[in-house]
Order: sequence, then structure tokens, then C-alpha cells
Amino acid sequence: MALRHEAEFLYELLNDPFNHQDSKEQVKRLAKKYGLRLYEAENVWSFYKQNQGSAKLCRGLPCTLKQNGSEKEVLRKLDDEGLEEIPCLGHCDNGPVAWSKGKYYHIGNGSAEELVPHIARPGIKEVHDLKDFLSMRGFEILINVIKKDRKDESLQLVKDFNLRGFGGSGFPAYVKWNAVFISRETEKYLLVNAHEGEPGTFKDRILIESNPYDLIEASLLAAVIVGASNVIIALKHEYLEAESILKGAFDSSVEYLSGALGLLEIPKMMIQRVPGYYITGEESALMEAIEGRRSEPRLRPPYPAEVGLYGKPTLIDNVETLLYFLGRLREFTETGIKGPGEKLYCLSGDVERPGAYSLPYGISSGILIAQKGGSKVSELKAVLPGGLSGGILPAGNGDLKLDFDSVKDAGAGMGTGALIAISKDRCMVDVMRTVESFFEMESCGKCMPCRYGTKELSKLFRDLSEGTATIGAIESAKKTADVMTRGSICGLGQASAKMFLDSIKYFSGEMEKHISGDCPSKVCFQGGV
Ligand SMILES: Cc1cc2nc3c(=O)[nH]c(=O)nc-3n(C[C@H](O)[C@H](O)[C@H](O)COP(=O)(O)O)c2cc1C
Ligand code: SF4
Repeated sequence: MALRHEAEFLYELLNDPFNHQDSKEQVKRLAKKYGLRLYEAENVWSFYKQNQGSAKLCRGLPCTLKQNGSEKEVLRKLDDEGLEEIPCLGHCDNGPVAWSKGKYYHIGNGSAEELVPHIARPGIKEVHDLKDFLSMRGFEILINVIKKDRKDESLQLVKDFNLRGFGGSGFPAYVKWNAVFISRETEKYLLVNAHEGEPGTFKDRILIESNPYDLIEASLLAAVIVGASNVIIALKHEYLEAESILKGAFDSSVEYLSGALGLLEIPKMMIQRVPGYYITGEESALMEAIEGRRSEPRLRPPYPAEVGLYGKPTLIDNVETLLYFLGRLREFTETGIKGPGEKLYCLSGDVERPGAYSLPYGISSGILIAQKGGSKVSELKAVLPGGLSGGILPAGNGDLKLDFDSVKDAGAGMGTGALIAISKDRCMVDVMRTVESFFEMESCGKCMPCRYGTKELSKLFRDLSEGTATIGAIESAKKTADVMTRGSICGLGQASAKMFLDSIKYFSGEMEKHISGDCPSKVCFQGGV
């Protein structure tokens, strides 16, 4: 599988990410090398410029909640070669987090402490050796499906298990898998989405780092079932450790499978770190980035299952969706049970023990927060059950079942299963100021409702926290949010609107108090109203 010239240009440029002093010269040189016009090369590079930053400070909500304002200074002392603020770095349980020259740091108490690249976590099995994987019957399902040609049967199980996407949308997997399966095109792709940019979500990195063999089997299995001859595992640009662990497991896996399958072929696989930001996790924006263009969402239809990567039918699934299917299939093969399994919930924000916890699908928010997070639900004001895309709910009494349908019935979205807890001491205006400024900075600007709407919502919360907002501004923002919900090209604009509308729905009292110059949590108006 070869990359397009545009992508080769981009990846070579960004693979020397710690030396951005002479970027313009590099762009010229590489444009010439790959036969690109300078304006084309600069157009692409200008989108990904921040990826060249040497030092990066996370501006995702879980990290921001823990910041005290000294982080940039600390980071500059560690690395003074250019500091960028970038969206979620994928270590939300260790906030505030920064990244410098390929290493992650926790920034606290005025100093930077390097994070151990990969730590084992309770309840998550670590498998780092092919022999261990094989002794746990690893690759058995894949080999069986290939040798006995059980594609149709396996596809039916995707439907029977009611498999839904854990990348944020909860979309029924069978619909996409079947569309790619029935396509008559001979060249098809599987794109494994490991770009993981949703603030509060860090499960895919942990899943890959703890057992890379599982993802290799799960991805090849999905590709075989839908008839994709090419697999691309697209990792977040900063996930160097996950890339190295995955690549380390790859060669021995292929060697083993070639021996076990003889002349029967397996799909080709490419493991690729892909530059970009929060928006790049959106499936069509991810395809653009892989093809070496600006990572802006495509208009749909056509959907990726019809016209995807390089114009070919493409199945795009999140890492955990594929792993969950493999896990269900293993259990079904052994026990005949088609019921739900465990999912990796991410917990961050105002809890004692933020972390990633493997729990039965549909566990209650109370068990996650209290038993795993070590905090009392009664001390929380709100929960964001699906990171920044699923909206906000009052914390309630902890009986919210964390499954797609229950969270939807409660008026929010489960998203990736990333719960961010907000303490009673927090000011919701302050929280929303961070949220909406995040969306403003992450909006790619391709469509007007989001380009202008995120700016208006961000300004509203800035004004509220500074005591200059009016009731009229809130009413106007509601109209804007409606347009964003109906008219945004991708989920980013809709998520921004949903967060605003929920904050108004449940916390209008706090908003109104800010208009009359009172911040009940004594957080805002630091400069005086
Ligand atoms: C702004 C935005 C960011 C997204 N980021 C991710 C991401 O980082 N990882 C992911 O798997 N899906 C992400 N998605 C969802 C993808 O577009 C897509 O639905 C998903 O990869 C499909 O896989 P699934 O059906 O297995 O969930 C994002 C969506 C939006 C709108
Ligand atoms: S909704 Fe926002 S992020 Fe998505 S395409 Fe439109 S401008 Fe870009």
C-alpha cells in the first residue's frame, strides 16, 4: 500500500516535528522533492502547522479543569522551542498534561514530571508476547473464519450482537459492514480510527498499548469479513508509544499467520500516525488527512462505505468497536451467549481516581464515579456522559445507565463512554467558557453555521464570565445553536450547540446570575465587573 505524494510530503515534513525553526524552507524543499506546487504544499502545511510544535499543552476540558495558569511557564522551562496549545493529548486521567519532543508530562506543583510511557492498569489484561497471545487462543477466530470461509455467518453476528460504534456516534455497525460487504468493487479498505481526539477519551491508546495483538486480529477479522484487502490503522500523531508497541507486534503476527494459513492471503496492513487535531477523528476528515490534504470533513452522501479512501468503499470503525466485536465472538464461540460484554469507560474531571475502567456495558454512572472514581455523586453538579459531544446532564443520584439508549433517553449521548465529572464547586459559566472556546478553536471553518456559531457561543461565555453579557445575547445564541444543529456539515458544530443548549436548560439560574453581576461559585469577574 503506497501513500499519495501529498501524504508523503506531509508525513516527511511532520516526522521531523521537533525542528520547526526553518519550516518554510523545509516546505519548499519537500514540495520540490514530491513534485507539488508550492501553493498546494503550503495550503496543506498551514493546516497542520501546530503538529510541528515542539512543546504542546493540552487544552481539553479534563486537563483545563486541573490547570492553575502556571503550566505554560513550566513547559517553557522544559522546552523553549515553540509552545502550541492543542486539543486533547489523550492522557485525561493525568491532567494537566503536556507533550514535548515525543514525551508526555504531568505539569503540577510548578514542575513537569515525565509520565511512564505505558502502565498496566487493574482489570485490563496485558499481552506483549505472541506466545502468550497464542496460548490464550489468539488468532483462532481469524484463522477459523478465513479457513472455513465463515464471512456471511460472522457478518450476521455483527447484526445479532447489535454491535454499535464506540467512536462516538453509536451507529449500528451492521449497516456499514453490510454496505461494504455487498459492494462489487474489488478494492476496499478498512480504516481503523485510533485518532482519539475527544477530550475525556483515552481508551483506544490504552487498549492498543495493553494488547496490540488483539487489535491486529480484530482489524484483520473485520477486513476479511467485509472483503477489504487493505487495512490502515490511523493513530493520533502523538501516540508514538502505541505505534511502537503495535508495530512491534505486527511482524511476528504476520509471520505466524502466513505459516498458519499457507497460501490463503490476509489483508495488507499499514500502521500510520496521522497528523491533525480533534476534527481529524471525524471519519471523512481522517480520510482527507491520510490522503495528504487538509483535514476537513467531506460532504455526504456519498458515504465512506460507497466512496471512501482513495475513492474506494471503506469501512471505518473505532478501535474499541472492533475489539468489542472480537471479544463478543470469542465468548459466543465458547458459551453460545450473544449478550453484551465489558467496555472500557473513561472517567475524568472532578473525581479522586480518574482512569479507564473495564466494566459491564450499561453500568450505572454511580458505580463508575463512586466505586471506581472514589468520589460521591452527591458532590457533583453535572456529568458530561460522552465527553464534549454528548451534552450535559445534572449529576442526579448516579442511576444513569451508561449505554447508548439509556443516556439518549436521559437527553444526552454516551459518545465514547467518557464521563467527565463536574464538581458542585465549579462555575458552569467557567466550564462552558472552556468548552466553547475549545470548539471555536477546533472548528475547521468549512461550513458557516459552525464557523460563526462556535465564535458566537464562545464569546457569549467569555462575556458572561466578564459580566458583559445580556439576556438578548443568550436568546440570540439559542437561535444560532438551532442553525448549527440543523446546518453543520459534521458533528463538531452540532456538539458545540448541544453543549450550549444543555447548559442553558439545566443551569440557566447560574447564567442569569452572571448577567446581574454575581458568580455563585466566586470564580468569574476576577478583574471586577
Ligand atoms: C469532531 C469529531 C471527532 C471525532 N473523533 C473521533 C475519534 O477520535 N475517534 C473515533 O473513533 N471516532 C471519532 N469520531 C467519530 C467518527 O466520525 C466515526 O463515527 C467513527 O470513527 C466510526 O467508528 P464507529 O462506528 O466504530 O464508532 C469523531 C466525530 C466527530 C464529529
Ligand atoms: S461543523 Fe465545524 S468542524 Fe465540521 S465541517 Fe463544519 S466548520 Fe468544520
